[in-house]
Amino acid sequence: GHGFHLYERIDSTNRLAMEFLREGAAEGTTILAEQQTGGRGSNGRQWESLPGGLYLSVILRPQLKLADIFQLTLVAAFGVAQSLGRLTGADVRLKWPNDLVIEQGRRLAKVGGILTETRIQGDRLAGAVVGIGINWDNPVPAEAARLKPLSRRDLDLAPVAAAVLLGLEQSYQLWHQRGIERIVSGYERYLVNLGQAVEVPGHDGQGRIIGIDERGALRVLFLDGGEALVMPSELRLGYA
Ligand code: BTN
Repeated sequence: GHGFHLYERIDSTNRLAMEFLREGAAEGTTILAEQQTGGRGSNGRQWESLPGGLYLSVILRPQLKLADIFQLTLVAAFGVAQSLGRLTGADVRLKWPNDLVIEQGRRLAKVGGILTETRIQGDRLAGAVVGIGINWDNPVPAEAARLKPLSRRDLDLAPVAAAVLLGLEQSYQLWHQRGIERIVSGYERYLVNLGQAVEVPGHDGQGRIIGIDERGALRVLFLDGGEALVMPSELRLGYA
C-alpha cells in the first residue's frame, strides 16, 4: 500500500526512498524527515537539512521512456511552486530546471529544490524518487531564503507538507490527463528565466531564453533566428 514514513532524523529521504523503490514499494510511498544528516542536492552537492525545513521524498512509477524522464522534474516543480504560492501567498517562482526561488529586490533567493533520482533496469525506467526540500524555517546560507517569514499566513510545517504533497499529486494527475503540453505551459508561468540572455556552448553570440520544450530542455533564441535546445547538464545558469 501507500506507506507514509516519518523520521525525526535520517541521512537522506531520497536515499531511503531509492532503497524502498528497489524493494518494490508502491507508487505514492512517502518519506518525510524533520532533519537530514546527509541530504542530497543536485549535481552531487549536499543539501543542508537542519530542523525547521521540509524534507520529503515520494516514490513514483511513471510510464516513461528513459529519454523523457526529465518531465517528472517539471511535473514536480510546477506542482510544488503552484501549491506553495497558493498556500502562503508568496510569489514562489521556478528557476530552471529545479530551483524554487523568490525575487528579493534584484536578487533571486532559493527557497527550495527538487532532486529526481531514477532506477533503471536494462534499458527501461523501473521507477523514480522525487525529493523535495523547502527552506521553511530552517537556518539557510546567506544567498538563500526561508519561506515562512514571507508567508501571509502563520503556518507550521504540517500544512506545508500537506500542500506540497497535494500539489505534487495534482500536477502528476494533470500530466496524465492533459499531457506534458499542459505541464510545460504551467511551468513557464513560474519561470524566472524568461527573457534572460545566455551564452550556449557551440553557438555564437548571446541568445534569449524563450521557454522550455517537452523534454524540459531550455529553448534559446538567437538574433539570427536560430534556436537552440539546451538540456540541464549543458548549462549552469547564474542567479543574475
Ligand atoms: C537542489 O539541489 O536544489 C535539490 C535539493 C533536494 C533536497 C531534497 S530534501 C528531501 C530529499 N532528500 C534528499 O536527500 N534530497 C531531497
